[in-house]
Amino acid sequence: MNRAVVLLSGRGSNLQAMLDAGIPVSAVISNVAGAAGLAIAAKASIPAKVVPHKDFSSREAFDGALAREIDGFGPKLVALAGFMRVLTPGFVQRYAGRLINIHPSLLPVFPGLNTHQRALAEGVKIHGCTVHFVTADLDHGPIVAQAAVAVRPDDTAESLAARVLSREHIVYPRAIRWFLDGRLVVENGLVRVEGNDAQLFGPDST
Ligand code: GRF
Repeated sequence: MNRAVVLLSGRGSNLQAMLDAGIPVSAVISNVAGAAGLAIAAKASIPAKVVPHKDFSSREAFDGALAREIDGFGPKLVALAGFMRVLTPGFVQRYAGRLINIHPSLLPVFPGLNTHQRALAEGVKIHGCTVHFVTADLDHGPIVAQAAVAVRPDDTAESLAARVLSREHIVYPRAIRWFLDGRLVVENGLVRVEGNDAQLFGPDST
């Protein structure tokens, strides 16, 4: 099916942005029972499943259960949207080339957590977000698209996060659409979009 399954752990604002953009989402799966993103799915009449990682004794067992749920929906794409679990190499391999993530920094700088605080601490003048294919190397897969945000002298981690997030909501649905339309080509670890759509959004100085 030419659809995406979305994995999330929390708020779900990127899921909402996908739905607003008309992305066909066949299911939402969370490792957290109370995740707000599950309510967004329910409101949109999209199947929502919970696979609590705490119920499993190993990462492999959890990822196996997750994969069974995903495969039940037969998606073309698996989109991580604030899914706060490190995935095993076996899981990443199973979905190689069709597993995508959005990360709140301009990779390869600031992989991992607390990206906005770290950007401010380094005094970078430009920050943003990255959509990338997921590989076994955390936050280092082939880059599909980036959106840039100018850092203001009076920014806090919260104000910067909010501006980056509003850009995530533009760039992630766009990248997913490219994928579902079969327009992404990966060669030697580099991604291009057939038809030459710009893979850089911004910088946005507003
Ligand atoms: C976003 O900042 C995304 O970049 C990161 O997790 C956050 C998810 O936010 N991977 P939301 O749940 O989509 O609102």
